[in-house]
Amino acid sequence: MRAIVFLTQKGGTGKTTLAASLAVAAAQAGERVIALDLDPQASLARWGQRRMAAQVATPIMVEPLERDRLQRLPAILQGLAGAGFTVALFDTAGADGAAVRLVAEAANLCLLPSRPTRLDVEATAATFRAVFLAKRRAAFVLNQCPATYRSSRASHAAKDLTDLGILAEPLLSARMDYQDAIAAGLGVTEYAGQGRAAAEIRALWNWIQAQLAGGKAERHTDQRSARQAAA
Ligand SMILES: Nc1ncnc2c1ncn2[C@@H]1O[C@H](COP(=O)(O)OP(=O)(O)O)[C@@H](O)[C@H]1O
Ligand SMILES: [Mg+2]
Repeated sequence: MRAIVFLTQKGGTGKTTLAASLAVAAAQAGERVIALDLDPQASLARWGQRRMAAQVATPIMVEPLERDRLQRLPAILQGLAGAGFTVALFDTAGADGAAVRLVAEAANLCLLPSRPTRLDVEATAATFRAVFLAKRRAAFVLNQCPATYRSSRASHAAKDLTDLGILAEPLLSARMDYQDAIAAGLGVTEYAGQGRAAAEIRALWNWIQAQLAGGKAERHTDQRSARQAAA
C-alpha cells in the first residue's frame, strides 16, 4: 500500500481539494482508496459524507483520523493494507507539529501544494525544508494557476520550486470544476469527466504513480538538496 500525504503550513493552497479529486482519480484507475482527514476542520470528512449521500459508483472510504491515534500509525497502515486498501491519502491541517511529522515520516510521498504567489512559494519552501529533514520523498504541486491568460507568474513560481526540489506535472489551473465537484461530494473526474480539470487530475495521478514506481522523487530531491547544500 502507498501512503500519500498533502501538507503545507499555509492554508488555502488546495490540500483538501486535491486530496478529494485525486482520491477519486486513483479509485477510477483501479486503486482501493482510503482518504484520512487529520484536519479538525473536517472538510474532507464532510466531503465524504456528501459523497455517500450522492451514491456515486466509485467507492472511496473517507474517515476522520484523530491526532492521538497517530502514535500507532505504522500499525494502522498495516491494518489498512491487510484490509485490501492500496492507496491511503492523508489530508492535513498544516505541516507544523509532531502529528503531521509522524504522517510525513510514514508516507511514501509528500505532496506540497502551492499557489503561484510569492507568499505561497516562500511558505511552501519552509514546509519543504521541514519535510526534507524527515528524509521523505516530496514534490511540489503548483495549484490555482491562472487558466485564462498566459501568466509569467506560474512559470516564475514553477522555476523557483524546481530550483528547490521536484515539481509535479502538470501545473493545475484555477477552475470552477474543482470547487463545484467538492460541493457535490465528487471528484472533478466524476463532476465533469471530459473537462480540463479532470484531464489535469488524471495526468497528476499518472505522474504520482510513475514517481512511486520509479522512486524518482527521492533521487531528484536528494540531488537538488545536495546541490543546494553545496552552493
Ligand atoms: N485548482 C483550483 N481551482 C479553483 N479553486 C480551487 C482550486 N484549488 C483550491 N481551490 C479553492 O481554494 C480554496 C482553498 O482550497 P482548500 O482545498 O480548502 O485548501 P487547503 O485544504 O490547503 O486549506 C477553496 O475555496 C477551494 O475551493
Ligand atoms: Mg484543507
